Amino acid sequence: MCKYEFFSSSPAATLSLGKRIGERLPQGSVIALTGELGCGKTLLTRGICDGLGVPLRQVNSPTFVLVNEYRGRLPVFHIDLYRLSGIDDGFEIGIMDYFSRAASGVMIIEWAEKMSSLLPDDLLKVEFDIISARKRRIVFSSSAGRFAAIFKEIAKS
Ligand SMILES: Nc1ncnc2c1ncn2[C@@H]1O[C@H](COP(=O)(O)OP(=O)(O)O)[C@@H](O)[C@H]1O
Ligand SMILES: [Mg+2]
Repeated sequence: MCKYEFFSSSPAATLSLGKRIGERLPQGSVIALTGELGCGKTLLTRGICDGLGVPLRQVNSPTFVLVNEYRGRLPVFHIDLYRLSGIDDGFEIGIMDYFSRAASGVMIIEWAEKMSSLLPDDLLKVEFDIISARKRRIVFSSSAGRFAAIFKEIAKS
């Protein structure tokens, strides 16, 4: 179990944190982002993708599809479940297909709580709280030991 708490005081700080994470992410990472609209999930995702070597102009929340795919150092699957009202069988089958493909890359899920029952155990959980207009509390936690080293490095930098 590892836990890392980060206080961001600007959009740039959140972006830069994401970049430092993305630079270090191992293949097969699943990242579950939760927090209200406007807390910074997409911004952190953009930073992570930047760190993974995805051209930033490509990275925006999927609007008409549930999943955007990017190619950086690893393939990235960016999922946004904001518009998902409920999980049905079709969705479940589709998403499971993505999980098997994401084993060779990185999967980032906004509004991950909407599919909590389908998420793997060894994910990196990221929970956001809005403290003020420009301040965010971001808590990372995982039961998978492999993320601990990343946050140990980031805490030092
Ligand atoms: N410290 C911060 N970290 C992240 N976003 C911030 C911060 N301060 C202000 N913001 C603003 O909050 C909004 C976050 O938007 P976005 O990342 O799209 O949120 P979400 O995807 O969670 O709905 C942006 O407009 C951003 O400029
Ligand atoms: Mg978003």
